[in-house]
Amino acid sequence: MILVTGGAGYIGSHYVQYALEQGEQVVVLDNLVFGHREAVPEGVELITGDMGDTDLMNKIFTEHNIDAVVHFAAYAYVGESVTDPCKYYNNNTVATLNVLDAMRRHKVNRFVFSSTCATFGNPVRVPMDEEHPQSPINPYGQSKYFVEQILRAYHHAYGFQFVSLRYFNAAGADPKGRIGESHDPETHLIPLIMQTAQGKRQHIGIFGTDYDTPDGTCIRDYIHILDLAQAHDLALKRLRSGGESAFYNLGTEQGYSVREVVSVCEKVCGRKIAVQELPRRAGDPPRLVASASRAKKELGWQPRFENLEEIAQTAWNWETSRRY
Ligand code: UFG
Repeated sequence: MILVTGGAGYIGSHYVQYALEQGEQVVVLDNLVFGHREAVPEGVELITGDMGDTDLMNKIFTEHNIDAVVHFAAYAYVGESVTDPCKYYNNNTVATLNVLDAMRRHKVNRFVFSSTCATFGNPVRVPMDEEHPQSPINPYGQSKYFVEQILRAYHHAYGFQFVSLRYFNAAGADPKGRIGESHDPETHLIPLIMQTAQGKRQHIGIFGTDYDTPDGTCIRDYIHILDLAQAHDLALKRLRSGGESAFYNLGTEQGYSVREVVSVCEKVCGRKIAVQELPRRAGDPPRLVASASRAKKELGWQPRFENLEEIAQTAWNWETSRRY
């Protein structure tokens, strides 16, 4: 059985759905601060609680026959991490350490970690492979980077087996429309554009039009949420078959500018979207695009959603019929 922390959140819930379809048994731990009860499929046990609670972690490992942890639980607002770093270091790093130490006590040593391209900081070259220097520029990226360092040390000292997956920009929703993205507040580009298309917002602000990119706006690599889910499943299979611990970057290897994202979404939503050009948002690198060849080669990972239109279509289906 797999313990999925943060399994009621955006990325975690899509993994849970995917894992069930692969025949896995899962138990979800989520404090529901940002997660949604409705995102956990019926029949899956949801433990509502905090991963920083040592007694709770001991109880979970005692009562369930867990052989691996897939760890999504984290705060993920980059801007907030700058104004309230304590929250990010405590939750994303210290509470994760509590999960790892509960695993040690209960002799569970397979760990799949939800990491981020934010561990790299400003790119020195693009596309970014796993050897790209890591120099995070905000506490969110640092909080995840610290966990990566802890994992290396636990691997050497205690024989921990881990895969750390560094996602670029997660996007889209379950193609069947059962679950999708629902953040409060929402800060991500694609859902904000779609909410503008629905008339829930007056316009989408474009943060910066004077970047050194072809149209002056930031370029990102948008990867479908199910392709991320698939990578976690493959990572766990690798660990279960005795594969080496590793780090992988996950993206489509294709970059889209903010203006291009708006234009693709206009096509998908079938309506014009009002934009307002705004100053740059602090901490946004101009261009983040993954090199994902290592994940393809070593995990056999192949993203199924290779173009943004398909990804945006699943997000639009969700936005127009969402349950939570
Ligand atoms: N953007 C806008 N207007 C908006 C929202 C976003 O122009 O209203 C732009 C941003 O400046 C950025 C792009 O759209 O250039 C994508 O922004 P998102 O906020 O959707 O995503 P980020 O690239 O900032 O963040 C993502 C993840 C983070 C992760 C980060 C790593 O959501 O968790 O990538 O850089 F840390």
